[in-house]
Amino acid sequence: MSSSALELTITLVCILAQFISRSSAATSDANESVAMTVQKIFSDHEVIPDVIDAAPAELAKISYPSGVVANGGNELTPTQVKDQPQIEWSAEADSYYTLFMVDPDAPRRTEPKFRSVCHWFVGNIPGSNIDDGDHRIAFAGSGPPQGSGLHRYAFLIYKQNGKIDLSDAPRTSNRSRNHRLNFQHKDYVKKYGLTDLVAGNFYQAQYDEYVSTLHAQLSSEKSN
Ligand SMILES: *[C@@H]1O[C@H](CO)[C@@H](O)[C@H](O)[C@H]1NC(C)=O
Ligand SMILES: *[C@@H]1O[C@H](CO)[C@@H](O)[C@H](O)[C@H]1NC(C)=O
Repeated sequence: MSSSALELTITLVCILAQFISRSSAATSDANESVAMTVQKIFSDHEVIPDVIDAAPAELAKISYPSGVVANGGNELTPTQVKDQPQIEWSAEADSYYTLFMVDPDAPRRTEPKFRSVCHWFVGNIPGSNIDDGDHRIAFAGSGPPQGSGLHRYAFLIYKQNGKIDLSDAPRTSNRSRNHRLNFQHKDYVKKYGLTDLVAGNFYQAQYDEYVSTLHAQLSSEKSN
């Protein structure tokens, strides 16, 4: 072997050795960067601190029957998000979860006197089967008033520490506004010991013509 070929071989071996030692740290680096990205997405849109204090462990995948996905504060229309979405996260089949969907920007982000409006509250979700959970406040789409600008709609999924007793939690159908305004999801987090925010995501929406349909729907049951 010539001396330059030997040098080249040594250089290649050194590069390979560095590569191997780096890749063992790569998994935890990757996890750390996922955590930083989620934190940044929630902070950039001030969902932290307006809704939660710290980022969820992962971004939930939220897909609507209309074909759109809610992700990282993207803008969707009330028409696109009118029907209940599918939500996917790394759920454990033998654990229970609680889901909240809230709008902290009612009636408008600059003057949020109804912070937050509850659009969905489901407890005791077995694994990822939201349909089989206890739907305390039924799903309602986005109804931002005309001229009120963009509202944020946040989904929060907490892993429960076993099954919880929801018997005194409010119950509201998708034809009513009862218990929806000034909903403090943090009160339930505290009450039920929900310390583990495992997944979340959010989108933004502003008024479109579907809003009047939703408002009529939510007024169709007599409120108490
Ligand atoms: C990275 O995240 C995955 C999935 O959440 C987990 O199983 C794994 O243990 C984590 N690895 C490290 C090194 O933290
Ligand atoms: C309202 O809830 C009922 C009962 O769960 C359901 O059948 C209906 O499709 C819902 N309506 C809307 C507009 O989501």
